[in-house]
Amino acid sequence: MVLPHSHRTNHPPQNTTELTKTSVVTGGAGFIGSHLVKQLLRADDVTGVTVLDAITYAGHIENLREELHCPRLTFVKGTILDQELVDYYVRRNSAIVHLAAESHVDRSFYAASTFVMTNVLGTQILLAAAKRFATKRFVHVSTDEVYGPLASGSASEEDALRPSVPYAASKAASDMIALSYFRTFGVPVCVTRSSNNYGPCQHAEKIIPLFVTRLLRGDQVTLHGKGEHVRNWLHVEDNCRGLDLVLRHGVPGGIYNIGGGTDLTNKELTGLLLAECGADWDAVSYVPDRRSNDIRYCMDWSKLRRLGFKPQRTLKKSLAETGWYRDNPDRWPPVRRDPDAPMAEVAVAIAGA
Ligand SMILES: NC(=O)c1ccc[n+]([C@@H]2O[C@H](COP(=O)([O-])OP(=O)(O)OC[C@H]3O[C@@H](n4cnc5c(N)ncnc54)[C@H](O)[C@@H]3O)[C@@H](O)[C@H]2O)c1
Repeated sequence: MVLPHSHRTNHPPQNTTELTKTSVVTGGAGFIGSHLVKQLLRADDVTGVTVLDAITYAGHIENLREELHCPRLTFVKGTILDQELVDYYVRRNSAIVHLAAESHVDRSFYAASTFVMTNVLGTQILLAAAKRFATKRFVHVSTDEVYGPLASGSASEEDALRPSVPYAASKAASDMIALSYFRTFGVPVCVTRSSNNYGPCQHAEKIIPLFVTRLLRGDQVTLHGKGEHVRNWLHVEDNCRGLDLVLRHGVPGGIYNIGGGTDLTNKELTGLLLAECGADWDAVSYVPDRRSNDIRYCMDWSKLRRLGFKPQRTLKKSLAETGWYRDNPDRWPPVRRDPDAPMAEVAVAIAGA
């Protein structure tokens, strides 16, 4: 009998304990990865987590300060581009959750080749190891940005990908290569595509920590265009709950959108952050729109809901967590020399990386 693609796999069905017992989490010292590691280590059926992280400018080992004492955690500083290193750890673990990536859109305008190397080639190197060592589950973590802008409606998992910027294009390419390893070799890949994450430990180049830290310093924040771009906001812990569900119950070859309950224009988001930081609209200036700034992302995530997913956090109720940035000034971005040049600090950070 010829099975349809969505059911074809070289690997026999596994129970969830076997899938989750030991996993390699790439990018586990980054924002989402470190929250996922904490969550995995809280689960009784997880006997080992190996973090493989290159600690680029975006990786922070302090994100795992407490977990580093846990005997079930192995921390490896290394790159997913090193096939020998990857093989060594993939062979010893049952699953891979792949988060390591270059993840900041603005940087992809300056350093697109690094995005292609890490996001596309790095993913293929992991997939080759998963194929070689019969990994039981490969969760490839992607983004709503691969669908491109939607003036109306919402993107479902079957929709065509129309990425606008080099970051999103490199993620779309990595999704395709991951799914090709399922179709061609039966590697049990699941792809997740989430909306914008927020929460403690996010790198200060992203909009919420960037605005919060600037406002706390008494600096201006800048909105692109008229601030009308719409984004869906997902608490990082909700995303990790979704990742865990897909790790345990996702169908090999399946794609799962993960969204949160809050859709806001950037201007609406700014209003909430101003109120939280005790600032007013005088602290906001407008700059010309960013290149290829997609007007609206929106996903239908009913497929994951059918697996039992329900976001538990709302942005408004979670805003008090901005206090994390107040308490961690070592994670603030460098002071901007030219507040009217939105790209300036990115360029400075790249030069220093
Ligand atoms: N943050 C979001 O809102 C969001 C939304 C949707 C999808 N995603 C995806 O989720 C994943 C994690 O995002 P994040 O926000 O935590 O990113 P992040 O930038 O905070 O973390 C990325 C991590 O990957 C590591 N890394 C980079 N290159 C590496 C390499 N060659 N080898 C090993 N490690 C390497 C970095 O050191 C860092 O720890 C990414 O794949 C991203 O595309 C993020």
